[in-house]
Amino acid sequence: QLRAGRSLSIGLIVLDVSNPFFTDVARGAEDRAAEDGLTVLLGNSDENEDREAAYLDLFEKQRVHGVLFSPVGDAQSRLDALHRRGIPTVLVDRPTTDERFSSVAVDDVAGGYLAARHLLDTGRRRLAFVGGPRDLHQVADRLAGATNAVDETADATLEYIATDALTVLQGRQVGEAIRERDAVERPDALFAANDLVAMGLLQALSMVGPLTVPGDVAIVGYDDIDFASAAVVPLTSIRQPSALIGSTAVDLLLREAEAPDEFERQHVVFQPELVVRDSTAPKV
Ligand code: RIB
Repeated sequence: QLRAGRSLSIGLIVLDVSNPFFTDVARGAEDRAAEDGLTVLLGNSDENEDREAAYLDLFEKQRVHGVLFSPVGDAQSRLDALHRRGIPTVLVDRPTTDERFSSVAVDDVAGGYLAARHLLDTGRRRLAFVGGPRDLHQVADRLAGATNAVDETADATLEYIATDALTVLQGRQVGEAIRERDAVERPDALFAANDLVAMGLLQALSMVGPLTVPGDVAIVGYDDIDFASAAVVPLTSIRQPSALIGSTAVDLLLREAEAPDEFERQHVVFQPELVVRDSTAPKV
């Protein structure tokens, strides 16, 4: 029994609509919403707080049943406002301990650990993490997990190579810079904060020569988007259950919308999974 006076839609705001990870999240959300006869309105924040705030206003004016969003930066004031106005809200791809909101996230520290541990297990010792901005919690947590794995290994090092955004272009630029380094300065393994960055690294490092992937440099991505397995060198990645994140978030939202005062908010955290492919074949 959904509340009267509301439109038959849910608002979803993602960080980057061109990233297939978020397309899959949206697909999961849409499929689940359709089961209850609802549609999903999609907004793209582009990691910009003003755009996020504008979409939240718009969704409220459209009297949506609730909003799902992947908050940018410190979203506290926007979250407080949603709570004050009684708009059911679920945080997507962002853990929280705030009892006022349900959340659906993936353990990114565990994911970062899995990625770096795998690179170390294949014999690499000079690791670099590529991604940014660092205030994006996904980036900070994945880097923290990788640091934990490297700290366990006496002779291993981890360099942080920052990017402004998690895009193919930024990955390619980092890959080109790494190509120019002397062999002693070059990492022998790269952990990209997501698959788009990994694809860019792969382009720069495997298609021009003289370096090869995984011979000179191994690469791990994050998300396991569909293109990861179809890459020129199939990409090892950390899989997130993207569609399940979307469908679970809608589920929680609908349960809250049905009984806002009784429904106990839930904090779901999925575990990521390592998917091994050719881009990290062991050193021979
Ligand atoms: O937008 C940032 C990244 O966080 C995405 O690629 C995906 O990995 C998400 O979890």
